[in-house]
Amino acid sequence: MRVLAIETSCDETAAAIVEATDDDKLNILTNIVASQLKTHAKTGGVIPDVAARMHTEALTHVLNQATENKKLDFDVIAVTSGPGLIGCLLIGQSAAKTIAQVTGKPFYPINHLEGHIYSAWLGENQPELPALIAIISGGHSELVLMDNHLQYQHLGATRDDAAGEAFDKVARLLGLPYPGGPAIDHLAREGNADAYKLPISLPEHGNLEFSFSGLKAAVAGLVGKLPDPIPRHIKADVAASFQKTVADTITKKTVWALEKNPEVKSVCLVGGVAANEHLRVRLEQAVHTFGSEIKFFVPEFKYCTDNAAMIGAAAVFHALYGQPTPWQELVADPNLSL
Ligand code: KG4
Ligand code: ZN
Repeated sequence: MRVLAIETSCDETAAAIVEATDDDKLNILTNIVASQLKTHAKTGGVIPDVAARMHTEALTHVLNQATENKKLDFDVIAVTSGPGLIGCLLIGQSAAKTIAQVTGKPFYPINHLEGHIYSAWLGENQPELPALIAIISGGHSELVLMDNHLQYQHLGATRDDAAGEAFDKVARLLGLPYPGGPAIDHLAREGNADAYKLPISLPEHGNLEFSFSGLKAAVAGLVGKLPDPIPRHIKADVAASFQKTVADTITKKTVWALEKNPEVKSVCLVGGVAANEHLRVRLEQAVHTFGSEIKFFVPEFKYCTDNAAMIGAAAVFHALYGQPTPWQELVADPNLSL
């Protein structure tokens, strides 16, 4: 079975064809992402109307590339249903609905967060269930327990900012370019992560909720006391200390979630912030220290940030265990939860 998947929920126009093989592996035949990052870097963030317009300009081209100029066929069509920016979601959905109507092929709306979860299934080996998933992105930070495919139990989420949002805001405080995550990731390599002690929010043992607004405020307070302009080596120390605090927070909470759910066989780190090198290494070490038999999964870098292959991966499991949706019934939901 081959899925044509479309993702336009925020600032990447993406389409992919994902094939489920007979031995239950996922083959990514094409994975095209037209990134709007350069445009949004100029304004320091995503302007929704600009993003939507750019999707309309890029999508036909991206679809042509993903289908190799319509030579690659597919059996089902999938599209991100939400959450995301409404104007952006509608562009991908209009295209997907049109393709579904014209071809009559089964149609699968996919929750963007579910897409991030199934990005962990895109590698050579696939997670065994039950799995504990840490979804750490620009819009979400949450821990989810997955006993069976397509079934999600919320263990804890952020009360305020998402981790990626904190990366972006702290980068702005340090005068680093948008998006802040990769900029902090790179600069932190030159810094001393123990230079500044920053607070871990909701630190009581067993508390699985996140809060990153206090950490962001602490960095703002710290930056206010630094020389202006901040010398590069001090910026690097702040970046490294901030990044370590985020990674320590996510690691602590993931380990507490493992303590509460001893049946877990796999831990998956997904979402844009999963591209962070320090976090990947730190969390993997902690999971293996907690239980050497627990497997750790993190997608390749290109499948951490938004892409359509992950939407295709989730659609494969919906096609296996769920039902298609008549295309007429899909309503874009900017606040869709998992
Ligand atoms: O998953 P994603 O592409 O979009 C959402 O669904 O939100 O995540 C984007 C977020 C941004 O906040 C970006 O700064 C962050 O992921 N990010 C990173 C890294 N690469 C992207 N954060 C930390 N380190 C990185 N290397
Ligand atoms: Zn995302």
